Amino acid sequence: MVFGEGNPQARLMLVGEAPGSDEDRLGRPFVGRAGQLLDRILEAANIERKEIYITNVVKCRPPANRMPSQAEVESCRPYLTEQLELVKPKIVVCLGALATRNLIDRNTSITRVRGQWHQKGSHHLIATFHPAALLRDPGKKKPVWEDFKQVMRYYHDHRGG
Ligand code: URA
Repeated sequence: MVFGEGNPQARLMLVGEAPGSDEDRLGRPFVGRAGQLLDRILEAANIERKEIYITNVVKCRPPANRMPSQAEVESCRPYLTEQLELVKPKIVVCLGALATRNLIDRNTSITRVRGQWHQKGSHHLIATFHPAALLRDPGKKKPVWEDFKQVMRYYHDHRGG
């Protein structure tokens, strides 16, 4: 199980899809190729990984990296709900379609909602493309950077509050 890691009082939480093979081996989220790209994005945004909290919708690696099933999402949901309640991040970034559909709007597409803020309870949520999608399609780099600029602005403007 790859539960998640980071600052238990983080103001920013990143939510991905599910662990891949590197994450499964090391027990940590986003440590493979997509994770390395995410680290570079965070660095460019001047956000330190240890300041934030990183997890996934699904906590165990789906066989052969397939998309998690709805049953797998549902069985992991209580963990994600509790992580959100305990950490209470002001900002939640949904990385990819699975997190977007499960945290922002079940019936939407990431292309439609990315880059827009959504308020749910005390959380401000924003969706962007998954870093693995960026590795496959470099054309997504620009929109992802636009989205992270918004996250960065909000994160740095609300420091300490
Ligand atoms: N992709 C994800 O969605 N999560 C990880 O932890 C690694 C790759």
